[in-house]
Amino acid sequence: ENGRNLSTLTLSRKHSFGNRKMSITVKPLHPTFMGEVQDIDLRTTVDDATLGALRQAMDQFGVLVFRNQRFDDDEHMAFAQRMDVTGKIHAKTGSRVVSNSRLGNEALTDISNLDSEGNPLETSDRRRLYGLGNRLWHTDASFEDPPGRYSMLYAYVIPPVDADTQFCDMRTAYETLDQHTKDRIEGLKVHHSIAYSRQTLGFEFSEEEAAALPGAIHPLVREHPAVSRRSIYLASHASRVVDWPVPEGRLLIRELMEHATQPQHVFAHAWREQDLVIWDNRATMHRARPFDDQTHRRELRRVTTLDVMA
Ligand code: OGA
Ligand code: MN
Repeated sequence: ENGRNLSTLTLSRKHSFGNRKMSITVKPLHPTFMGEVQDIDLRTTVDDATLGALRQAMDQFGVLVFRNQRFDDDEHMAFAQRMDVTGKIHAKTGSRVVSNSRLGNEALTDISNLDSEGNPLETSDRRRLYGLGNRLWHTDASFEDPPGRYSMLYAYVIPPVDADTQFCDMRTAYETLDQHTKDRIEGLKVHHSIAYSRQTLGFEFSEEEAAALPGAIHPLVREHPAVSRRSIYLASHASRVVDWPVPEGRLLIRELMEHATQPQHVFAHAWREQDLVIWDNRATMHRARPFDDQTHRRELRRVTTLDVMA
């Protein structure tokens, strides 16, 4: 089996009130995941029927791309709260170690290479070195409990050179495992720690920082209730398999990472300014690709929702 193939999805529904009909159309970008939603302005998308259709499309595609959005920070945050049924957002994702003060809002994660004057951070700047961790395959906030559900990344400034984000389909990754491996990983739990993932790059946390971020334990295999599909839940943050000898667990994690990130499971998003990309952290991994960050500016902002029960 090669994963499930997607075709163009048009969801049409009647509003629960009035006679107006809504519909969204999603164009597939890859054979097994990722779609682009056509002609929609998310600032004015407030009705339950359309939001429900978008959530259904997220369940199917794992990643949705929206071109030509015109958010400011408040509109971005407000949309994130509408998009997730719980309305709950991560108040402080990733900003406990390096200050997010440039944006003055801890719920907005500053995904940029810029200092407070808007200039590229120097090569040795701690914020830059911390941010380089996004170039490792990961899923957002897996080192917390609750972890992240939807991440919504909005592009303000995009350089004129390739500076893509790659996504990886972790449901197809699960479905294409051999039966022996599926049996072997059934029921396992994994400890995720951002101190661990940053340390693999040689970025050291202070004792105080490490103590504030002890990590979290999550199942290695997750089942997405809405679509009855399983996924491998992994990230650069995955530090050990609970109850296994550490080296053995790390070898399993590496083997699964290698399997998951084969080219046929990966698709790169080439950013344009005013793109909003939403990904489901339960069903995908992602990583930033390198670019010349001393020459070019790249500025995006992210809001991530909490993966809690509705
Ligand atoms: C993120 C992230 C990757 C990128 O926003 O969570 O990992 O390409 N971004 O900037
Ligand atoms: Mn990320």
